[in-house]
Parts: sequence; structure tokens; C-alpha cells
Amino acid sequence: MRHFLNLSDAGGNAIAAMINDAIDRKAARHGWPRGKVDADAPLAGHMLAMVFEKNSTRTRVSFDMAIRQLGGTSVVLNSTSMQLGRGESVADTARVLSGYADAIMSRTDEHAKIEELAAHAAVPVINGLTDLSHPCQIVADLLTIVEHGKALPGLEVAWLGDGNNVLNSIVEAAGLMKFNVRIGCPEGYDPDMRFVDAARAGGANITLTRDPVKAVQDADVVVADTWISMGQDHAEAKLQAMMPYQVNEAMMGHAKDDALFMHCLPAHRGEEVTEAVIDGPQSVIWDEAENRLHAQKSILRWCFGQI
Ligand code: CP
Ligand code: NVA
Repeated sequence: MRHFLNLSDAGGNAIAAMINDAIDRKAARHGWPRGKVDADAPLAGHMLAMVFEKNSTRTRVSFDMAIRQLGGTSVVLNSTSMQLGRGESVADTARVLSGYADAIMSRTDEHAKIEELAAHAAVPVINGLTDLSHPCQIVADLLTIVEHGKALPGLEVAWLGDGNNVLNSIVEAAGLMKFNVRIGCPEGYDPDMRFVDAARAGGANITLTRDPVKAVQDADVVVADTWISMGQDHAEAKLQAMMPYQVNEAMMGHAKDDALFMHCLPAHRGEEVTEAVIDGPQSVIWDEAENRLHAQKSILRWCFGQI
């Protein structure tokens, strides 16, 4: 059974294969209507159940379209309208959904919940974001970086802001794909050190600094995300602490001239990034968002042993 709860469940070789697969499949259907099924329909007849305990635009629509383009079908469930929202256990929900669906994608809060789901499911489980990690986002991000002509080994990625779920998965990817991450974040907002330690053990250079300029200096890619993630308190103190880490034009000026700006979205213009940067020439956010679709297809194919 192939669950995709974190990037290390697949490993570096499989992630590289997913990126190549996504590039090929994206090219093969270039210009087609979005709802048309891929010529080879590799997951024909497969049903994906999606369970959302948090809001989503990209993950929800891209997975829905991904399984359809692969020839399958889907059902989207919001936990509040499920018995899960009234206290039915995660384990029982996993057992029941396993009788209807060929795979389950879940977005939840505590990471332990998706581990529980996977432990009791008889079908592959995919992490569509937890408080700990967001692996699907990072497959799309790596695809976007490669598409924009940058090789992953040795790449210098700068992260400014909160040490959150997205950063944890970027750090995990660094150890698997051999790139480096310079993290500029205020004290108290570091990423999960288990990911940092694992990435360093994998040979990645992971630097933590309180100096945002040091983090961004000569970077190939600059990444930001919301300062307040879903489920977190909108604390004024946190916003104040984050302010020096805003990605604005002056900050981007410290990165390499051809550096990319990336953001998983949704963005808060004027907080973690200024309008001039996110809507500027170095920003690749719309490619990044579209690539969620192409990446999800490769993740699904990996779950079913096709990659
Ligand atoms: N980036 C991302 O996961 O977006 P959604 O929250 O809209 O799914
Ligand atoms: N860190 C953000 C990512 C949203 C896609 C959150 O967890 O809300």
C-alpha cells in the first residue's frame, strides 16, 4: 500500500520520476479542454474520496480534475457535513470510505489524524495538508522550478516568514532532492527540527537565520507563505514579528537577478509579500497553482504503482 503522507514516503527517485511524468503528461494534453480524459486514461474506473476538515480551493479543484483527467471519478466531502464532524472516529471513517473509494485524500489539522486514517484504510491515503506538512504542494513547486529551467541539485532556496507546514515539506524535499534552504524567520517560529535534521542527514544545507537579507542573499528561489495558517490565532504580536520578513522589491533585490518568487497561495498582499513582487516579472505563482493539477496526477499514479 502506497500512502503519501510525507515526501519521504515516496523518496527522491520517485519524486524525480513524478516531476518527469507530470512534464510529459502536461505536454501531451496541451491545449485540450480541461475536462477531457487523457488518451491513455491510466486510472480509468478509479474513485478518489476527498475529505476536507479545512478550506481549500487549489487542492480541492486540482485533485478533482486530476482524477477525472486520469479517467477516474471523485467525491468531495466536507467533514462538517459528515458523521466525522459529529464524532465518528477517523478509524471507522477510514474503514467505511475504503469500501467505496480506491484512494482517499484528506486535509486535516493534527498530522496524527492522517496517520490514523492511513493506518485503518485499505486504500492509499494522500495528505492534502496537515498542520505539520503539505507534500503535494511541494511536488508542484519542484515541477514549477524545473519547468523554469533550474536544476534542483545545489539550488539555493530562501524562505521568509513563518516556519510552517509548507516550509517543513520544502525542507524535507531538500534532503531528498539535494538542494539547500536558507530560512529567515523570527525567533519562536522555526520549522519542525525533525525535518531539518533529516534534511541535513540527507546532505542538504539548511540554514536558520534571524536576518532576512542573509537568507535571501543570492538565492535562486524566494518563497513566502501566509503568516497565519489555517487554524492559527490571528495574533497581532505574530504579525509584528513577521513584518521584517516581508518579501518586497528591496528584499528580492538581494536574490539573484533571475530568481523566482513562489507562493503556494492564498496570499495576503501587503503582509508576507507586496503587490509589486507577487504580480511582478519574477513571480511564477500562476504556473505554480496550475501545476498542482499536473503534480496531483503523478502523485495519484505513484500511489497506484504506475510510477
Ligand atoms: N496551496 C493550497 O493548498 O491551496 P488551497 O488551500 O486552496 O488548497
Ligand atoms: N500554511 C498555509 C498553507 C495554505 C495552503 C496553511 O496551512 O494555512
